[in-house]
Parts: sequence; C-alpha cells; structure tokens
Amino acid sequence: MKQPWPIISLNSVSSTNNYASQLLSENKIVEETVITAYKQEHGRGQQDNIWESGTGKNLTFSLVLFTNFIEAKNQFVLSQAISLAIIDFLRLYKINAKIKWPNDIYVNENKIAGILIENSVMDNTLLHSVIGIGLNVNQGHFAKNISNAISMKTLLSKEFVLQEVLDNLLNCIKNWVDYLKANNYSDLKKEYLDNLYRFGEKNMFSSKAVDFSGTITDVEETGELVILAGDGRKLKFMFKEVQFI
Ligand code: BTN
Repeated sequence: MKQPWPIISLNSVSSTNNYASQLLSENKIVEETVITAYKQEHGRGQQDNIWESGTGKNLTFSLVLFTNFIEAKNQFVLSQAISLAIIDFLRLYKINAKIKWPNDIYVNENKIAGILIENSVMDNTLLHSVIGIGLNVNQGHFAKNISNAISMKTLLSKEFVLQEVLDNLLNCIKNWVDYLKANNYSDLKKEYLDNLYRFGEKNMFSSKAVDFSGTITDVEETGELVILAGDGRKLKFMFKEVQFI
C-alpha cells in the first residue's frame, strides 16, 4: 500500500512528539513526515500525563504537518479531523468507536487511542503541527493504574502486524488532511458530533467540584463543549473545565 508520508522509524526515543519538535526547531524536517517509535521512554499524554505503551506492542508515532492552511482561530479542526480519521480507521476493523470530547477515542467506556497535538502559530495561522497518536493494538494487559485502556487485540482476539495497521491509519489520516487542505469545513462539525461520545444524551457532569445533569448539544469553533444543563442554562466549557461522571 502506498504510504502517504515518509517515515522515520526509531527503535527507542523519549517521546516522538519531543523528537519531532526538536527536528523542527533545528530546521531538519523539510517535508511532512511521520516519526514512529518501537519504544517510548517518556511518552507524553495530554495535561502532562504519561502515555504508557508496551514496547513493540502498539502504535506510538507523531505526524509533522505544515499547517499554514489552517487559521489559528480554527485550530480545533485539526483535532476534529484526526479524531474522525481514527474513527474511520477503526471502522475498517469493524470497531465502533466514539470521540470523547475533545479528542480521546473510546470503545464503550474504554480508551483505545489518544491524540496529543502541539501547534506552532505564526501571525494568524498555524505554522506546523506535531500530531502525536498512541493507538493500543497488540497489548493484552495494561498497568493497574490505567484502568480503562483497551486494545484492538482485546476487542478482536487477534494480533495485528503493526506496519499494516500504521499504513491503514496513515491513509485514513491523509484523507482527512486533504479534506482540511481543501479549506471547506462544511461537514466537519456534523461528522464530529455524529461520532461524539454521549452526544444528545442526558448525562452527569462535574465542573469545579459541582455535579450537574445536562446534555451535550454542540461544540464551538474554539472547541468549547456546549452543554444544556437540566435547569435550562446553556453552559460552555474549555478543555479540562468539565468531566463526565
Ligand atoms: C492522551 O490521550 O493523553 C494523548 C496521548 C498521546 C500519546 C502519543 S504516543 C506518540 C506521541 N508521543 C508522545 O509522547 N505522545 C504522543
């Protein structure tokens, strides 16, 4: 299968996102590139969390894109598109996943993939983006402190060839990146909401230690989550300001 981007395969690295950022800062990346690691010593998750992944078991990689086709104020489109690409990819394997706002990928109540996007901005547009993805593929057991992780192997009771999985995933991502490059986001929000975990369902949330019931009704262009609270108020939250309970 044709690979959409050149790939740098590393045996061991601290974090593929850090490695990519370092290369960018030294002007050593001249074209859009994927960096994969067999092992990450210090894989990073969102909010300074650690991303743990068994050596050689899963996909841990970063895609470097030159994203000057995205206005800084629209940067959430990248999160939406990459999330949808992973949903499309999992559908190839008949895995029905959802996007847990803003960009965690869940199968029922278990996380199968995480995304860490780090953008550099110049003037009003993005300059480049490091899109880090961790996808649980062949890992059967996770550390006790990672209670809700799940892998393709656990879901489908078989092992996968990582290179084939990567090729398929990169092709799904390429489709969505091309969609963004066409600069018309008309269907993006609808697609995102159609695949959003607990969209339109009554649910309990917590914000600033206050629990409340509400229904997710929308996401703003900024990425804010819109919840219609049980008492009729329309509330908007930025990342980490609200939790599902
Ligand atoms: C999250 O859900 O918290 C985001 C996890 C992102 C993990 C990936 S693995 C490849 C890339 N390199 C990193 O250090 N992190 C991302």
